[in-house]
Amino acid sequence: MRRVVCPGSFDPVTNGHLDIIGRTSRLYDEVVVAVLINIEKQSLFTVEERIEMLQAVTREYGNIRVEKFHGLLVDFCKQQGIPAIVKGLRAVSDFDYELQMAQLNYRMSGVETLFMSTNPEYSFLSSSRLKEIARYGGDVSGLVPDLVHKSLVERLRG
Ligand code: PNS
Repeated sequence: MRRVVCPGSFDPVTNGHLDIIGRTSRLYDEVVVAVLINIEKQSLFTVEERIEMLQAVTREYGNIRVEKFHGLLVDFCKQQGIPAIVKGLRAVSDFDYELQMAQLNYRMSGVETLFMSTNPEYSFLSSSRLKEIARYGGDVSGLVPDLVHKSLVERLRG
């Protein structure tokens, strides 16, 4: 079984994330989408809500498992028997940060990191920008799945 992990905060999942998860699902037998439990960072959606949304929007791929984790990603990989991490790279600005993390993760555990270039259609997209736009009434439809769009609007406009 060839298994890989796509980690992130997914607060909430965007079409950019989905593009990476979907393309990865065609390369591996199973993709484990790992949602970080970060008690230091305030999130818009709870971890359970994020997991539910991820499960709903990835169901059609057929080989996605959504899990949560806290602590080090490489420890989660070891527990799950996963040898590699897939990360999407949007721009050069992502690279410095991601390279450092990839090298540290490899140094700590031997877990490999593979970078996938983001579809240019979504290279400007991030969950934080998305929330900012939605919070002030901007239109984010087309940037997130419909189900997420509905939840975002409900959560931000009360
Ligand atoms: O969607 P994000 O917030 O950019 O995802 C970042 C994530 C969750 C992939 C990263 O913060 C992570 O792996 N955190 C777990 C803690 C960890 O392993 N840190 C050591 C990195 S060298």
